[in-house]
Amino acid sequence: MNSFVFENNTKVCFGKGCVKTHLPQLLQNYGPNVLLGYGGGSIKRSGVYQEIREILEQQGKTVTEFSGIMANPTYDKVLEGVRLVKENHIHLILAVGGGSVMDCCKAVSMGAVYQGDLWKDFWANVGTVDFEPLPLGVVVTVSGTGSEVNGDAVITNVEEKIKTGRDYIGCNPRFALLNPVYTYTVPRRQMISSGFDILSHIMEIYFSEPQGENVSDGISEALMRNVIRSLRIAKEDPENYDARSDLMWDAAMAENRIIKLGKRLDFQCHQMEHQLGAYTDCSHGEGLAVLHPVYYRHIYKEGLEKFYAFAVNVWGISPQGKTKEETALAGVEALGAFIEEMGLPTTLGQLVPGKELDLEAIAASCVLAPGSFKKMTHEEILEIFRECL
Ligand code: NZQ
Ligand code: ZN
Repeated sequence: MNSFVFENNTKVCFGKGCVKTHLPQLLQNYGPNVLLGYGGGSIKRSGVYQEIREILEQQGKTVTEFSGIMANPTYDKVLEGVRLVKENHIHLILAVGGGSVMDCCKAVSMGAVYQGDLWKDFWANVGTVDFEPLPLGVVVTVSGTGSEVNGDAVITNVEEKIKTGRDYIGCNPRFALLNPVYTYTVPRRQMISSGFDILSHIMEIYFSEPQGENVSDGISEALMRNVIRSLRIAKEDPENYDARSDLMWDAAMAENRIIKLGKRLDFQCHQMEHQLGAYTDCSHGEGLAVLHPVYYRHIYKEGLEKFYAFAVNVWGISPQGKTKEETALAGVEALGAFIEEMGLPTTLGQLVPGKELDLEAIAASCVLAPGSFKKMTHEEILEIFRECL
């Protein structure tokens, strides 16, 4: 195992009714002015908004609304939030939603304190968070990104056509409230897309050095089996509490840094998807679904041990009568079949129908992930995009 330092400062409250039980007390640790961040209105339709507003009012908080946070949040939206925080002397940001709302509010929590050029110093380049961001608490409404338990915020700069994220340890939310019942109302297509993102995170971590058996990868295999199983159940039975609970905790386990310990990490598919997103505003999980099998057909020979273990331990493929390479490839094909079974897109044409794609520009703008089993080039990334057509 590679050496590591592990740190995670987010207090997590999980389960049915956890918002009602824990939010009132958590709010008492902060001043009276709260910025309530949310998306396009799903929380109003589901009743989550009313439940939270009531608690805020009971606790005597003055609420400033920061609404309309879009999927793939933009840097302009971050700046709008920063202005609201400053004008209203906010003490706590409460983000209620999915990865987009959490990420946008996380960036606002940094911008509220940082005096320099936020984009340039923390997203265009890797920065150092040597200041305390404004306190942020999150209430998760869709299981996927794991943003609730890390310091990562993925932001899109529309002018520069760059979508990128960085995980700053100092930017973890102070608290995260995870009530699986809140995810019942997520439309099936979104549930599957965000659910596939969980699987993608685990695979991006798993498929990297070291390849030999290790505890982090052992946990990852258990998580992957659980995501696959729970997604299958939740697709047919959206209000299955056990499946929704597992998915919610799988998402957090994938991104709370635990399974990353001792691993090199790849995240090449994420780098490609982020740039696809920067150019097309496509759904994150769906973009990943198109890319993963094609990318893995390019790299499995370089990561043979891990791809073999993936086939056998995650998909239950028998290695009998097959070479190691054939078994490894059968695992990639099983992943592809699962993507189809879930009704996720498998081509760029299905992902962004009718959109002209400047694949050369998109490929050229992708970061080459140093953790990939295979040394990638922009030419090979372009090849992968073309094979996705
Ligand atoms: O905006 P509203 O009306 O709330 O609707 C949202 C949105 O349309 C809806 N939704 C959420 N909870 C719901 C619900 N609808 C009904 N009932 C509910 N309970 O779902 C839609 C998508 O929400 P979004 O937050 O965009 O989804 P997700 O959680 O998948 O987040 C995706 C974003 O996170 C980034 C992605 O790139 C993308 O921008 N990522 C963030 C990461 C991180 N911070 O660690 C890592 C990831 O790899 C990822 O890049
Ligand atoms: Zn992701």
